[in-house]
Amino acid sequence: MLSADQLRQLAEPLPHPSPDQQRDWAHAAASYVLEHLRTLPEQPIGQSASRARLEALLRSPPPEQGQDFPAVLDEFARQVAGHAFRINHPRFFAFIPAAPSFPSQLGDWLCAGTNFFAGVWLEAAGPAQVELLVLDWFKDWLGCPPETQGVLTGGGSEANLIALTVARDRLPFADRARAVLYVSEQRHWSVDRAARIIGLHPDQVQGIPTDDVFRLRPAALVEQVRHDRTAGKLPWAVVANAGATNTGAVDPLTPLADLCRECNLWLHVDAAYGWPAVLIPEGQSELAGIGQANSITLDPHKWFAQTYEAGCVLIREGHRLTDSFALRPDYMQDVLPGAGEVNFADHGIALTRRFRALKIWLSVKILGLSWFRSLIDRCCRLAEWAEDQLRQSPDFDVLCPRHLSIVCFRFAPRTYQLSESELNALNLALVESLRLTGRAFLSSTLLNGRVALRLCFVNWRTTLGDVEETIGLLTQLGHELLVDAASRSRERPE
Ligand SMILES: Cc1ncc(COP(=O)(O)O)c(C=O)c1O
Repeated sequence: MLSADQLRQLAEPLPHPSPDQQRDWAHAAASYVLEHLRTLPEQPIGQSASRARLEALLRSPPPEQGQDFPAVLDEFARQVAGHAFRINHPRFFAFIPAAPSFPSQLGDWLCAGTNFFAGVWLEAAGPAQVELLVLDWFKDWLGCPPETQGVLTGGGSEANLIALTVARDRLPFADRARAVLYVSEQRHWSVDRAARIIGLHPDQVQGIPTDDVFRLRPAALVEQVRHDRTAGKLPWAVVANAGATNTGAVDPLTPLADLCRECNLWLHVDAAYGWPAVLIPEGQSELAGIGQANSITLDPHKWFAQTYEAGCVLIREGHRLTDSFALRPDYMQDVLPGAGEVNFADHGIALTRRFRALKIWLSVKILGLSWFRSLIDRCCRLAEWAEDQLRQSPDFDVLCPRHLSIVCFRFAPRTYQLSESELNALNLALVESLRLTGRAFLSSTLLNGRVALRLCFVNWRTTLGDVEETIGLLTQLGHELLVDAASRSRERPE
């Protein structure tokens, strides 16, 4: 039996911050974010810290009694946000950065504030319809046929996994152990992880060489498929890039689509980064043929100014998504979708899903598609300009010409005779030196065994001045590193 006191407590909701307190706290949080965004270009780019340091700063038992929001916000601002990089900073060029637009950030806030359940139509028909609209926009831009269906995911890795799962499910169980997946040597590693998750043996993943600008070579693919057929294997699927992570390279999609059709291979295009290029004529011709793929990965949280997390997968024969993912347990019997309705939980891995489409829908409606076209064009032009500057300088070698909005190069001053291993060590040191200035951040990769520096442009805030400053810093720091190395070798005892 419950006591009278318990009954009295249960008659009211659990005490929780009051509406007035909520308003004050929302203002405090909004002020913090707005000030953060306003001052972003002048802020240092960020910093990391060791585990030991962060343990010392942050480890404490969860308080039994709660604290006031401003105190926790202050701790967040100093100890947490103070030890992270500002990936939306105009001079953050590392990996594939992200620079969400403000309307996308507002959409995320509305999404959290309403917390609609975007898994089944019955619980959130409006949000499901918005997701359908956003998917239709993407299909239209990419030139996919009407039967294409999709789902918004947490990112490109999840999208690649969903695509390969759907492709795998086309194979009879008896054939799965001899199926071969062909992947560009320049694939993203999430493809290998997806292959592992769906149960492929490493020998079933076959790398295909790329040409001198890192695009998959269709002739090499044909040769390998022929060889594998003769060896009794089952050529099954191809993963091509539309914007490789290292270089931005776009594989020859039309020839690959033709070839895959002829050879009965599933073509998956990983366009996680490069897909928004279809919004401008230059990108449309580079990505021509993408709409013929059996499946496509696209990440709005990369080059489409969205907050994390926003990925997407499109499947040409859309019904295959429900074939692979829909299950009907008893406790879901009330939420069967009606005609034309979609339970997005039937299209992927998650049942409980946030309303991811909201921020995309909201930002396109508020900013207009022309803003996104300008973003894509601007990023390509900044990359083009950076490449010109690097080519004109006696201090740099361009290691891969610009693809989309990525340029790969290295510091290799003509006045010094340096071996390949010295150049590699120098360029790795340069990445770190630049980061430690707090002014700019770029990352490195390996291209044909050579350490390459990458500039990746996705940010609407980035200006010519930012590129100029970054190349200037790289020149200055690179020469300082060489002078230091020379003086260290002079000091070395004979
Ligand atoms: C080409 C490509 N595919 C897939 C991914 C994985 O996407 P996510 O990090 O959103 O999971 C990335 C990430 O950088 C990528 O560049």
